[in-house]
This record gives sequence, C-alpha cells and structure tokens, in this order.
Amino acid sequence: MTATFARADRICGLEVSEIVQISEQAAALRATGRDVVSLSTGEPDFPTPDHVIQAAHQAALQGQTRYTANSGTTPLRAAIAADAGVTVAEVIVSTGAKQVIANAMLATLNPGDEVVMPAPFWTSYADIVSMAGGRPVVVPSPMEAGFRLSPQALEAAITPRTRWLMLNTPSNPTGAIYTTEDLRALAQVLARHPQVWVLSDEIYRHLNFVPFTPFTEAAPNLRDRTLTVDGVSKAYAMTGWRIGWGIGPKALIGAMGTVQGQVTSGASSVSQAAALAALTGDQSLLDTRRKAWRVRRDRVVDALNALPGIDCPLPDGAFYVFPRITAAMEATGHPTDAAFCRWLLHDHGIALVPGRAFGLPGHLRLSFAYSDADLTRGLSRIAAALETR
Ligand SMILES: Cc1ncc(COP(=O)(O)O)c(C=O)c1O
Repeated sequence: MTATFARADRICGLEVSEIVQISEQAAALRATGRDVVSLSTGEPDFPTPDHVIQAAHQAALQGQTRYTANSGTTPLRAAIAADAGVTVAEVIVSTGAKQVIANAMLATLNPGDEVVMPAPFWTSYADIVSMAGGRPVVVPSPMEAGFRLSPQALEAAITPRTRWLMLNTPSNPTGAIYTTEDLRALAQVLARHPQVWVLSDEIYRHLNFVPFTPFTEAAPNLRDRTLTVDGVSKAYAMTGWRIGWGIGPKALIGAMGTVQGQVTSGASSVSQAAALAALTGDQSLLDTRRKAWRVRRDRVVDALNALPGIDCPLPDGAFYVFPRITAAMEATGHPTDAAFCRWLLHDHGIALVPGRAFGLPGHLRLSFAYSDADLTRGLSRIAAALETR
C-alpha cells in the first residue's frame, strides 16, 4: 500500500511566501547560468559586528552550550527590560521576531477570532494568523494615506470578534513610520474597544530617517494590552542568529512562554549571548549604518522616480521602497504586478517582489539592503526594461 499524505486543515490555505518563491526562482535561473540581480529580500548586506561574533565564541568556549531558561537568559531579558523600562517577567526571548508573533497568535486566538492588519503588511502576518486559527481582516491603507491606517478605517474594521490590531512601524514593505499623533489617534479608537490588543512590530525602529515613536510611548494607557515586537536581525545585521523578543503584560508573556516551551524550549544559548553583546556593546554602529541606509534610500528613490510609469514615495524608515507601478504595468502590457515582476525577472534578470504579496497590488517592493554594486546593476536593469519596451 502506498502511503498517503494530507496536510492539516490549519495549513491548507498557506503557501511558501512569495518573497521566498521569488528568491528561489532567481536562484534557479542563476543555476542555469543566467546573470540575475536580486533586490528581493530584507536582509542587511552588512556583516554582524565583530564584537558580537567574539562574544558568541567566548560564550560557547565558556560552556554556554546548554538549554537556557525557556523564555530567555536572565542577562538578555534584563538588558531588554532595562531598555524598555519594564520588568524581566514582561519580556520573552524567542527564535526571531517571527516566533514572537507566532507565539502570541497561538497563545491567544480561538477559531474565527479576527486580527486587523493594515495593508500593505509583512507577508507573514496573515499566514501566521490563519495558521493559529484566526481570521486576518485586511484594511487597505494606500499610498494616498501615506500607507498608514486611519482611525476611521480602524473603527470600521473592529467587531466583537476582533482580538488584535497588528501595526508595523517602520513598515515592511513601505518604510512608513506612524507619527506620535497617528498612534494617539489609533489609541483613542482602541480605548473604546477593550477586547482589542495591539501587536506593535518595531523591528525596524533603529532604521529611521524621521523621528520614531514606540506605540507604548504614544499610548501608555494601552500598555496593559500591547505587545511590542523587536529583535536583532535588522539593526545589528543578525538575521541568521535568530533572536527576537516580545515585551508585554506578564500574563500574555507567560502564555507565549507556554507555547514556546512546547515548540523550541527557548532560543539558542550562543545566539542569546551574541544578542546581549549587540544590545550592551557600542551602539554607534546604528548611527553609522543609518547614514549609509539613507544614502542608499535617496539614490534608489531618485533613480526610480526618473523612470516612466513609476511613482516612488520617500520611505521614512526600514530598507525598502514600495513604488506604485500601475502606469508602468499598463505601458508594458502587464495586467498584474505579479506578471510585471515575472517579466522583469525572466526577461531582464532583476528579482523584485510584487505588491500583492503584501496585500496591496499595483506596487512592487525593492529592498535596498544590498551592495552599491548590486543596486547599480539592479536599477539599470529596471531602466533598460522600461526604456526598451
Ligand atoms: C516586519 C517584520 N517583522 C518581523 C520580521 C522577522 O524578523 P526575525 O528575523 O527576527 O524573525 C521581519 C523580517 O523580515 C519583518 O520584516
């Protein structure tokens, strides 16, 4: 008898993220000898700082090679707690910010519970919510609205089943940063709906080109129902170390710990030592890198806005641009952003992610977390594609 395999219902609607699919297609084309430039993933090209690597090495040599406490080592939790002005019990360390989000959803959602998310959103939000049995409620927040959720749209989206609002500031994919006033206006709506919690994903907070306000600072009255998500992946160029954390009320952090205890038993010991060194070591690199990101941002935005059919707003933070491409799609005969990106990849050797992957079609996301040489080659390929149509 041949074995049969059936996916569980909870993952039936889920597919590999479009970002991963595009990276794989680019790799497959490269394997056939094609020269492909990828500006599709959100991973800093800077190296992890030397002192962080040395701290990890020392930790391993000194025997920090065993299971740690499930919710993270005390020194790392204490450093995070001190920075946020909270107690250690209000902090959980996980295997990347992604696991923090998954833990929170698994720990709180019952079947059919709703999670409001402004679109465009980071692709994983909707899939994590669905996997946890919840229902993503997507609220369009278009370019005209600065890619930010308005209080009116939030009010209209909330129902008695709403459990969470997911915010991301600075945003992946748009780079938009909510101002203090924006956050206060959203908080006023939430004050009328005590059943709704806030997940504020602030993983790009150090990559800001305009002032950044944490949600808990704008809305301290909602601290007792806010989960702040952060990590070392982006700011410290530590994606592979897989360390993120959540800061929130003790009861929520405890419930997330219950999930984590049955999934990973906690994050890697050596990576936690590395993250501690990143957080407590020299912070001047954040400023140096912010300056480098800004130069790249300005260059990319100028180059894209010089092209026909592309309208690229200036992002406030993170390392992405999310231009509107509808005129370029029309001029090149591509009915969808996905077809447009496929054409750029297959005919012009440049990998970018269509806006539909983030819940807002008619755009594309270009990551400028790449070397100047890659950016030069990538931008000139987009220009060549649009000029030779
Ligand atoms: C908005 C956002 N949140 C969370 C993450 C996950 O980060 P980590 O590497 O810590 O899992 C990413 C990674 O791309 C992201 O863009």
